[in-house]
Amino acid sequence: MTKRFPEGFLWGTATSSFQVEMGRGSPSKDSDWWAWVHDDENIRRKIVSGDTPEDGPGSWELYEEDFRLAKKELGNNAIRISIDWARIFPNPTTGVEVEVTRDEHGDVSHVEVNEGGLRELQGLTDPEAVEGYREILQEAKRRELTVMLTLYHWPIPSWLHDPIACRDDVDSAPLRGWLDQRTIVEFAKYTAYAARAFGDLVDLYATINEARIVGQHGYLSDPPEFPPGLYSPEHFMTVLHHLSIAHVVSYDQVKRWDSTSTSDLGPATVGVVCVLQYFDPADPGNPRDVEAARFVEYLYNEWFLNSITKGDFDVNLDGTIEPHEQRPHMVRGCDFIGVNYYTRWLVKHAVKGGDPRFDYALGPGGGELTDSNWDVYPPGLRHVLNWAYDRYRRPIYVTENGITDSKDERRVGYLLDHLGQLHAAIEDGVPVLGYFHWSLMDNFEWSDGYKMRFGLYNVDRETKERTPTKAVPVYREIASSNTLPE
Ligand code: BGC
Repeated sequence: MTKRFPEGFLWGTATSSFQVEMGRGSPSKDSDWWAWVHDDENIRRKIVSGDTPEDGPGSWELYEEDFRLAKKELGNNAIRISIDWARIFPNPTTGVEVEVTRDEHGDVSHVEVNEGGLRELQGLTDPEAVEGYREILQEAKRRELTVMLTLYHWPIPSWLHDPIACRDDVDSAPLRGWLDQRTIVEFAKYTAYAARAFGDLVDLYATINEARIVGQHGYLSDPPEFPPGLYSPEHFMTVLHHLSIAHVVSYDQVKRWDSTSTSDLGPATVGVVCVLQYFDPADPGNPRDVEAARFVEYLYNEWFLNSITKGDFDVNLDGTIEPHEQRPHMVRGCDFIGVNYYTRWLVKHAVKGGDPRFDYALGPGGGELTDSNWDVYPPGLRHVLNWAYDRYRRPIYVTENGITDSKDERRVGYLLDHLGQLHAAIEDGVPVLGYFHWSLMDNFEWSDGYKMRFGLYNVDRETKERTPTKAVPVYREIASSNTLPE
């Protein structure tokens, strides 16, 4: 039987600014990620690949072509892109006065930005960056692509985070990124500004992309991977906590400063994007693996969503919320949950020598592996969609799902199988409103560089030519008919 998707379902692809923009036009050099991937010691120690984003697909200038592909060749009606905080504010915004409220725990709980503040912020932007993003968003509108705009997809301005100094000695580093609540305040200013500057062209926002990955790969990774390359459960928890607050304060800003609709969605629907994975114990007969898998699922899939939707800040991670961990004042809203789903992990008990709850290691599941050694496990998508809806009762977008497949042999199967599971979740009653495939084209895969190819289109690094993979006609057929073939 043909499987039809709900009326108005959004079909799209997802990209992020740092991963696709550079390669044509002016590079964005003022971020922690730029510093991280260019650092000689990181390259020598193979923490990063040595590839650099300035060899990327060049969407900063080639966006018209990208949107043409999305609309005409893929039959999409939507696209998920991000804007780069460091490109818009290469210089500090710290001097702009705002009113910061802190709660009884000393945490930032609200940031009040006023008109005067917005004017000052305007004066601190790189006008070329703002104009560039306006042109990109206008082009998406002209192509009738509904934009989901991610406000934070990882790079932080260098004036807030020196990842090399943090890597070398985090205690004495002056610019500590998300370890410092100052970053939350500056994020509020940036998001207020972005909502005002781009609000007439955007109705659908994601505040933060994958808080957990920022924490896990940056602060709980051995060997190091993402900036600042630390292994510290304590810092990991601080970062997760601060990113929760960053969602809260930016939610306020977007709701307040974007009052213009560009579609019938209304001015500002604001959600968050989380990566949800399917976790199984490596040995279901081993109680320590079972316990480790349960802990990892709680920590990785649940903690952040509990904090922003329920105000449960389980700071000691014991799974129960004591009175001082209940923070109802931190619940402002989350209009949808963006689910990124790629794979399943097997969790094994493994002694690390610190907090015993963090004594675990993750390994790929037993199925077919992608180029990234990730297990292809489509039923996990249906599982996490049901899981998220049962717990949080929010509409859901699948904001990323895709495969590294340099031989172009398995992307079609991956796409069809995952969409089958997504459709089953809708039949289970989960209100999934859209699907964004990761990614429109091959791009800069963070510390792995260009080796990992997620694109529906391959990109020639020299000419920037986009060449369709076998999945392009398949996805076009699905998106334009709003149905999944048998
Ligand atoms: C991120 C993307 C990344 C993709 C594949 C997600 O974690 O949001 O930026 O490229 O997964 O690794």
